Amino acid sequence: MIHAHVTAWFLALILFVIALFLHKSGKAKGFKIIQMILRVLYLIIIATGIGLLMQVYHIDWKYILKAVGGLWVIGLFEMILSRVAKNRRTSVFWVQFVVAFLLVLYLGFAVLPMSILHP
Ligand code: HEM
Repeated sequence: MIHAHVTAWFLALILFVIALFLHKSGKAKGFKIIQMILRVLYLIIIATGIGLLMQVYHIDWKYILKAVGGLWVIGLFEMILSRVAKNRRTSVFWVQFVVAFLLVLYLGFAVLPMSILHP
């Protein structure tokens, strides 16, 4: 489950970057397709995240923060891409993105116990 979770968000991150490049080079159709694939990945990230939560015996505030942070990152993926598509400003969302992503990585890898790094 943890591998599926990490694979899903890592793939989402790569596709997110690809979508930004496609937009930069004016490929609107490719951008839309990647955006659709990303939405499926969001569901997989959330489903595997919930699956991981269900393996936890005692859910404390760190897990809640991790889950809310993860949902926040997903919201920002979607928000940034939809604003980029309309050529609107994204700077406020980029700041949030960096903060939320770092928080989630820190909680996921350094604070919470399950990990792909030490199986
Ligand atoms: C893009 C969004 C997300 C990112 C980048 C992310 C990132 C991570 C990372 C880095 C880990 C630790 C992996 C490891 O140590 O090998 C992890 C674990 C986990 N994630 Fe996410 N996650 C996201 C979304 C979510 C969501 C939406 C939920 C809940 C609904 C969630 C729940 C969990 C849980 C419960 C764990 C296991 C924590 C543990 O006990 O160690 N994640 N995630």
